[in-house]
Amino acid sequence: MKKIIFATGNEGKMKEIREILANEDVEILSMKEAGISLEIQEDGKTFAENAMIKAKAVAAVPQAENAIVLADDSGLEVDYLNKEPGIYSARYMGEDTSYKIKNQNIIDRLEGVPKEQRTARFVCAIAAVLPNQEVITTEGTIEGYIGWEEAGTNGFGYDPIFYIDEYHCSTAELPREVKNELSHRGKALRAMKERLAER
Ligand code: IMP
Repeated sequence: MKKIIFATGNEGKMKEIREILANEDVEILSMKEAGISLEIQEDGKTFAENAMIKAKAVAAVPQAENAIVLADDSGLEVDYLNKEPGIYSARYMGEDTSYKIKNQNIIDRLEGVPKEQRTARFVCAIAAVLPNQEVITTEGTIEGYIGWEEAGTNGFGYDPIFYIDEYHCSTAELPREVKNELSHRGKALRAMKERLAER
């Protein structure tokens, strides 16, 4: 049985990861379940670099021996803001600032900007470090635009201001299963699942 350790402390992510990667041949553990506690400096310049930094740091601890270590990094790119907040999405305006304030700030910075210039995307990179230290990365994106007001209470982070054309609503208004199906993280995880199945 393969052992996968996912380098996150976020329970919501673990749930999504288990739903997508689960099968009878794999055991999926969070860092905590694997008995690993680490502070990792995310100082990469891209989502993929940050995901690799996290996966490599966890793969280097003795508890991760013989396991596949996965890590992700994700964020929102707003084209009109030169792809801000990008890799700084969690830290934008300060880690402890509420998303009510962060979201309103992004709406304010787009004041008067027409819909065609409000394009944005969520990006997720996933990195895997295999037991032989080989590294694999995958990426997933979902395209949308920044709305004029917050809508919806599902999801988290920037979901209430991120709208997608096909559904005429924000990703915070979509049921969880629908968002998982369309989302950057879902796409990157399914691509990783395929890459790992080739091993
Ligand atoms: P990290 O990948 O855990 O470092 O977090 C990235 C940050 O990007 C989150 O804290 C959110 O601000 C933002 N983000 C990433 N994915 C989503 C999403 O699906 N919805 C809303 N915000 C997201």
